[in-house]
Amino acid sequence: MRDDIQEILFDERRIEEKVRDLAGRISRDYAGKELVLICVLKGAAIFTADLMRRLTVPVTVEFVQAASYGASTTSSETITIKNDLDADIKGKHVLLVDTIIDTGETLNHLFTLFRERGPASIQAVALLDKKARRSIPVPIAYSGFEIPDAFVVGYGTDFGGKYRNLPYVAVLNPASGK
Ligand code: IMP
Ligand code: MG
Repeated sequence: MRDDIQEILFDERRIEEKVRDLAGRISRDYAGKELVLICVLKGAAIFTADLMRRLTVPVTVEFVQAASYGASTTSSETITIKNDLDADIKGKHVLLVDTIIDTGETLNHLFTLFRERGPASIQAVALLDKKARRSIPVPIAYSGFEIPDAFVVGYGTDFGGKYRNLPYVAVLNPASGK
């Protein structure tokens, strides 16, 4: 294994199974409805692409980018929107898609922002949930894996912009700059 990676938590096969499972639940719950996925850039690009291909309900996709905290490994509570949605979500069934929920501050901000636009419903799906780090309660209707309080990279999650392309989710070696 490469020496900047300490431990692989979820390999490609486990991620694929989980994505399939989440997509199955979402497809059942939204049967007969249309769904607007909101991909939280940049981290959720890969997860969104995989998830949406497994959904059996009609789906459109929107993108939002919240200002990130750059190369740091702690979350910021000051969140600004860098790129807003294209489409009006009024009256739509909306599902926020993020790869990892840490303090919950980002998701909470997005829930507040998008609820004001009058969607028919709004829920969230996250592949990884660092539950122990939550500083604000946020509802995650569809949660993949609960993970411990460690800094992870891969499958869209980054350190200083890198590692997003790793096909697995891994704990970064603390010696590699973190
Ligand atoms: P929150 O606002 O604290 O929930 O932070 C959510 C965002 O922080 C995620 O969308 C990630 O961009 C980033 N983040 C939190 N934990 C990690 C991690 O372990 N690795 C990489 N990025 C993380
Ligand atoms: Mg990041």
